[in-house]
Amino acid sequence: MEGLVIKHNELKAEEFIELWETVWGQGPSLEQTRLAMENTLFRVSVFDGDKIVAMARVIGDKGLDYYIKDVIVRPEYQSRGIGRMLIEELLEYVQDNGVSGTDIFVELCAVPDKIPFYEKFGFDFNEAKRLKMFYHVK
Ligand SMILES: CC(C)(COP(=O)(O)OP(=O)(O)OC[C@H]1O[C@@H](n2cnc3c(N)ncnc32)[C@H](O)[C@@H]1OP(=O)(O)O)[C@@H](O)C(=O)NCCC(=O)NCCS
Repeated sequence: MEGLVIKHNELKAEEFIELWETVWGQGPSLEQTRLAMENTLFRVSVFDGDKIVAMARVIGDKGLDYYIKDVIVRPEYQSRGIGRMLIEELLEYVQDNGVSGTDIFVELCAVPDKIPFYEKFGFDFNEAKRLKMFYHVK
């Protein structure tokens, strides 16, 4: 991807929040995001000069389960193959770190209109529904 620089494990909380807010509105707190960055297995970020244009990350236990989170391409950079590049980077990480010769769950949660994007890489959905709550920490 001409002119773009891919970085591994350098994504900062401030960059995460900036990019998040280009697509999803009000981002999470800096404190929560810093912790999340520290405890993420693998972070990919893509830069055009000093502007962050895309990111994705993998959380998990490295043994049985890898979970893809926060795949975002800045709106004006979408439809140029950057999303594909992000997923390929994440799957390469799993390939390089998973236990050789085993099958490992790689999971993610997608809104319906993004499912066809993930299907291109071999993801398939099942009948399970995502349950969630915002748990208040006192
Ligand atoms: C989803 C997202 C990451 C895709 O990134 P992108 O850079 O636009 O995607 P790419 O240009 O790399 O597309 C790769 C392929 O997926 C296809 N594709 C991309 N978005 C698609 C969609 N919503 N539905 C169907 N196909 C899609 C492209 O046509 C392309 O197909 P091809 O390789 O056969 O030509 C991007 O739209 C985005 O950041 N959206 C906002 C945040 C978001 O919703 N993230 C996902 C959370 S589940």
